[in-house]
Amino acid sequence: MAEPRTRIDPTDPDIYLHGIPHAEFAGMRRDDPVCWIPQVRGSAGFDDEGYWAVTRHADVMAVSRNSETFSSRENTAIARFQPDMTREGIEMQQAILLNMDPPQHTAQRAIVSRGFTPRAINSLRAALQERASQIVGSVGTESGDFVTDIACELPLQAIAELLGVPQEDRGNVFEWSNSMIGYDDPEFSGADPMESAMGLLGYAMQMADERQTCPRDDIVTTLVKAEIAGEHLSVDEFGFFVLMLAVAGNETTRNAISHGMHALLSNPDQWELFKSSRPRTAVDEFVRWGSPINVFQRTTTHDTVLAGVPIPRGQRVAMFYGSANYDETVFTDPYTFDITRSPNPHLGFGGSGAHFCLGANLARLEIDLIFNAIADHMPDISLAGPAQRLRSGWINGIKHLPVRYR
Ligand code: HEM
Repeated sequence: MAEPRTRIDPTDPDIYLHGIPHAEFAGMRRDDPVCWIPQVRGSAGFDDEGYWAVTRHADVMAVSRNSETFSSRENTAIARFQPDMTREGIEMQQAILLNMDPPQHTAQRAIVSRGFTPRAINSLRAALQERASQIVGSVGTESGDFVTDIACELPLQAIAELLGVPQEDRGNVFEWSNSMIGYDDPEFSGADPMESAMGLLGYAMQMADERQTCPRDDIVTTLVKAEIAGEHLSVDEFGFFVLMLAVAGNETTRNAISHGMHALLSNPDQWELFKSSRPRTAVDEFVRWGSPINVFQRTTTHDTVLAGVPIPRGQRVAMFYGSANYDETVFTDPYTFDITRSPNPHLGFGGSGAHFCLGANLARLEIDLIFNAIADHMPDISLAGPAQRLRSGWINGIKHLPVRYR
């Protein structure tokens, strides 16, 4: 195995405390774009044999598009299955769409895509617009934490609206969802993530069970009853799908909103431009700039070659979106935050392969609605202190963002 030329492990949470380590990634893209990192001491929190770090836009695309060679089956989050993980734990991971390969992935994605058609997403617009105005309108203080006051709630409301979760159950569902995603940083949440996951799983399975016996005109019924090529989701499969939405659609969108606000307020000309012309291109620039998911991984199914580098079978290949989104061969002035950037072929929602973010259009709608509500109701918002980052090499997160609202 070639000796690594890089000095950093780009999954090391400590190097993200001041944001994406741009200088290091630029060096890797230039000198060592497919680079062996001998040991994981990053977000996974345990040692492992190592992985390949892929940092250029073109190579991340190539990996994303080739699920035959680069499998999602051994867990796409940056840790490989932990050695002491039980068979049940592994089966649970593999029951999630993100960790499936074709043909299982193709079949299940065809079913769940039913809930994410442009029509289905557009039907949520009015309710989410009202929610966005309520969230912004209900901030009663002069100053506060933008993340907890504003960025947190709409992503959860959007998933609840999508699934038709009744108002009286939303408190529980939101609590389970938030505590599940706090595992990377114990300070972030008090509750036990595993217990919360079980709580949410049980709730979702009960929902599916009810729809199987008493079908309604809603998305849950569509997913558990309607047959697509003879297939529908079982009660268990539906439960895991909801679990995944709570992870995939919650913190990601929250961070895209927080990064967008932080970048706009740090670049006052861009905030003025947003307020006066509301460019539709802004949302994708927030996602590129923040790259809320820093990395996902694949495992090679056979010996292969990527960008001239031989990679043996069974090794992990990590795609760093946080690097690819600043690739100077693709983006003009990548370190300039430009809400009118077009085209903007960022990989914040993944490469354009089979696993491309299913919720991308829902996320775009939410982000668009919340920023329009902020521009309408609190145009004088300003920064009141530095952003406090989440300590994670996997999620580019902002934990707290002190602001003055008026
Ligand atoms: C997949 C990012 C919002 C649901 C992905 C992937 C990325 C991503 C990078 C690709 C995973 C891979 O290639 O292995 C984001 C970002 C978001 C966001 C940055 C917000 C700005 C959402 C929302 C939902 C959602 C709102 C749903 C409510 C999913 C699902 C997948 C996925 C279900 C798995 C698709 C599959 O495996 O076929 N997302 N996501 N995401 N995302 Fe998102």
